[in-house]
Amino acid sequence: MSIADLSAGEIMSLIETAVSLKKKNTNSRELAERSLALIFEKPSLRTRISFDIAMWQLGGHVVYLSPEEVGIGSRESVRDVAHVLSRYVSGIAARTFSHRTLTEMAEYATIPVINALSDEEHPCQALADLMTIYEVKGGIKGVTLAYVGDGNNVANSLLFMAARVGMNFRIASPAGYGIHEGILARAEEMAGASGSKIICTSDPQEVTESADVIYTDVWTSMGQEAERDERRKVFAGFQVTPSMLSKANPDSIFMHPLPAHHGEEVADGVLYSPNSEVFRQAENRLHVQKALLLVLLSSRG
Ligand code: CP
Ligand code: NVA
Repeated sequence: MSIADLSAGEIMSLIETAVSLKKKNTNSRELAERSLALIFEKPSLRTRISFDIAMWQLGGHVVYLSPEEVGIGSRESVRDVAHVLSRYVSGIAARTFSHRTLTEMAEYATIPVINALSDEEHPCQALADLMTIYEVKGGIKGVTLAYVGDGNNVANSLLFMAARVGMNFRIASPAGYGIHEGILARAEEMAGASGSKIICTSDPQEVTESADVIYTDVWTSMGQEAERDERRKVFAGFQVTPSMLSKANPDSIFMHPLPAHHGEEVADGVLYSPNSEVFRQAENRLHVQKALLLVLLSSRG
């Protein structure tokens, strides 16, 4: 459900398994006779394809239910769906509008339920992001990640991730669009144990100066389309530009979970600049989810 569900040791073990699976680059039969239901209330490119290919590369099977077909809570209750799916498949990866739909599904399902993005968190993305930083920087010790933009699901999971593993996390958001108090309080408690330093501000320059990773995500997340015009106004000044990147550490990298809205949160061309690692991030979704599926669906974990 959340990155906060995992210990630092569990996170690092997933990353190490993912790195070794990526190096090995061979298919296996470890999840033969295992199946995964992909239940998506919202669209997806990366999450859907990477889970599907991950299961295929491990010898398993996937069933996908599209946003038009799902009808969770309208056609059928979350509780009933959870009970029925538990009789057919070995695991569920669900993308929902409300985080509560996911937690309810996990409560009633007798099989593992993976958060494939909700309005509160995107933990699989944060795992792929950490793997990317680990690969590019050769570790995570002393790394400072600067997030510029909306305090949304992606930001929440990154914050929990940083707080858990001891990475420094800074976020700059317009007033009223930062990390919610409850999430921040929980992350600060975790950071106290790991040594991670957290800064929340409304000044992008304060966070990007001498940072190792500059990270951004869309200003308007899926489900918030009606607010797009308003958000464009509020977030003006929070665009990641080449000049902003030039003030970070010389070997800093640019990250974005994608899809990107070019010309909004990220200036045209930044995705294709030499220090952009966005496509490595997208690739790593596959490797880290294979590691996760092995833990959750096979007897190996
Ligand atoms: N980053 C990410 O989750 O992409 P999709 O919405 O395409 O799955
Ligand atoms: N914050 C974005 C992430 C998409 C991967 C959204 O929820 O739409």
